[in-house]
Amino acid sequence: MSGLFAMAGCSSESSGDESVSEVGQALIGDPLSGITAADFTIVKDNFSAAEAITDGLGPVFNERACGNCHTNGTTGGAGNNIERRYGRFDNNGQSFNPLANEGGSLRQLFSLGTFNNGATLCTAPVESEPADATVHNVGRLTTPLFGLGLVEAMPDSFFQNIVNNEPSATRGVLIKSTILLANPDDPSELTGALRVNRYGWKDAVPVLEQFAADAYVNEMGITTQSCVRGTSVTAFCTESAPNGRAQPTGCDDLAPLQAANFTSLTGCPQNTDDAVGSCSGGLSEVQDDVANFATFMTFLAPPAQDPNTSTNGRAKFISAGCANCHVDNTVSGGALATAATFKTPASPAGIRAADGVLRHVPGSLAFHPFSDFAAHDMGSLGDNIGLNAGDSPAQARLMRTAPLWGIRFRNLLLHDGRTSDIATAIAAHAGQGAAAATAFGNLSAADKVDLVTFVHSL
Ligand code: HEC
Ligand code: HEC
Repeated sequence: MSGLFAMAGCSSESSGDESVSEVGQALIGDPLSGITAADFTIVKDNFSAAEAITDGLGPVFNERACGNCHTNGTTGGAGNNIERRYGRFDNNGQSFNPLANEGGSLRQLFSLGTFNNGATLCTAPVESEPADATVHNVGRLTTPLFGLGLVEAMPDSFFQNIVNNEPSATRGVLIKSTILLANPDDPSELTGALRVNRYGWKDAVPVLEQFAADAYVNEMGITTQSCVRGTSVTAFCTESAPNGRAQPTGCDDLAPLQAANFTSLTGCPQNTDDAVGSCSGGLSEVQDDVANFATFMTFLAPPAQDPNTSTNGRAKFISAGCANCHVDNTVSGGALATAATFKTPASPAGIRAADGVLRHVPGSLAFHPFSDFAAHDMGSLGDNIGLNAGDSPAQARLMRTAPLWGIRFRNLLLHDGRTSDIATAIAAHAGQGAAAATAFGNLSAADKVDLVTFVHSL
């Protein structure tokens, strides 16, 4: 333990603010300091809980629990589960089509198969890749969830500042999306407003609460309705339609139906699996599992850097240009030292703990994700899956700079999990990453080993 605390001491150099503490003292799987074991256990257990057909699992799904995929090193880590996506390019190859009417772009790997709902015999088909897809079987590896509450706390201007200070050749782009489910505890988040995306391989999602609701329906088939400031959130209450064909009534799963007046109260179908109900009176209440998943991820601390690192490797990481995208705010002497200080604002006053669980990032914390959270045109490393219908081929090549914190606990690397070797992952960097890959390739054998040792200490 003492070695880890020593690390924390030496990496607070850049903050210049005595009241900021480092998050870098946690062991893998620990919560942020200030979170009690009791609070953490409640939300972690919920994240690990396996769901059944009577809870709403299906009709198609990838797994039965969040914690069944996010497993590397600890609950909430990365995982070996690789999901599958497809799509096509229309208009002479210029315009991405996710084939949503055929169940795309995500192809869920499992279905409920044949089951009885009372007298009705139901058969949920397994999804297949439609014949008209031109982008085939793209892999998406399970990413780690460490430190995401810290990322969530950063305002858009923070990411804008990082990108503005990046060298133009490797400058990232920020993708903004409409918030579909705001965290009601954060006054800066409004459902329906634009926010900078920061989550997923593709920078697809702006808000953690929203990712949780999205994963619940897309990974497990569990549909939910929530209330944010009196507005019913309907974006996650429709059951998946395998390859675009909605299941007949009663055959989506075996969760009990909502009350007869549910649709008129909430705008969601009666077969919504779990719901808050009426939002009248300005109610803010996120469906309890979704809230607990988001809270678990908010509390899950990034692990401390391994002190057995390489100072020369760190220097080479910077000189090869890695830190232009994998931003480290403690880089000193370069432009990046002033471009970004990953430090959460002190928790805003008035955050509630209405459900008995504390739900915010405590205090002002400095952290080291080694990412700008921006999207980059990675050339041949891009996966050719657009975020939105109509995306150009260049947009479809955009990938988020993968955060490198906790990378030593990973098994597989890159968006499709094609390798477990750091040097191979570096060599695959193309497009805006090509110059850094070349710079790495030109290092002496000893410097390469040092750089990989440094990356492997994160
Ligand atoms: C079948 C495996 C699987 C299950 C189950 C699963 N995930 Fe994931 N998770 C993934 C994959 C794969 C990704 C990367 C997705 C992408 O970027 O396209 C991911 C990414 C994420 C991210 C984005 C993290 C980042 O890197 O920015 C969050 C947040 C997340 N999952 C939360 C959840 C929650 C909450 C649940 C449970 C409701 C869940 N996941 C269930 C496989 C899974
Ligand atoms: C132009 C921005 C950029 C530069 C420069 C860059 N990277 Fe990356 N890096 C990315 C992106 C984007 C990804 C995700 C790629 C993917 O899988 O599609 C990534 C992925 C990685 C991964 C795999 C992480 C994971 O989660 O699987 C490693 C390791 C890595 N980079 C190390 C480096 C090193 C070392 C350098 C310097 C030699 C470097 N990168 C330079 C943008 C960059």
